[in-house]
Amino acid sequence: MTKGAEVYARSCAACHGVEGAGMGSVFPALVGSPIATGDMAAHIDIVINGKSGTAMQAFAAQLSEVDLAAVITYERNAWGNDTGDTVTPKMIIDAKQ
Ligand code: HEC
Repeated sequence: MTKGAEVYARSCAACHGVEGAGMGSVFPALVGSPIATGDMAAHIDIVINGKSGTAMQAFAAQLSEVDLAAVITYERNAWGNDTGDTVTPKMIIDAKQ
């Protein structure tokens, strides 16, 4: 969680806001987001591969597997998104294949 918070502040907060509340209608809130609190595979997918046609870029080449696992774990447990989920680097590697 501590590492994830660092990665989040560096790579994600510019668009999603420091508190995960998003910004206007363009950058979605991650607090209570169906992706960030629901299907873990979809959450891993959008962070690794991005979403074409939107500002959400692919982070697979920019962040290490450890950083990706940490930041996704952070999003799933910060700001009241208390899913209790832990994302491991192995899950990131598997999702990349
Ligand atoms: C340049 C701006 C930008 C940055 C930086 C960014 N995102 Fe996004 N993100 C977006 C946009 C825009 C969307 C909405 C895409 C769409 O229209 O579905 C999005 C969507 C998402 C979603 C899906 C939310 C939902 O409920 O639809 C997740 C999860 C997410 N981003 C995680 C991250 C993570 C993790 C990082 C940092 C590693 C990050 N984002 C960095 C712009 C950004």
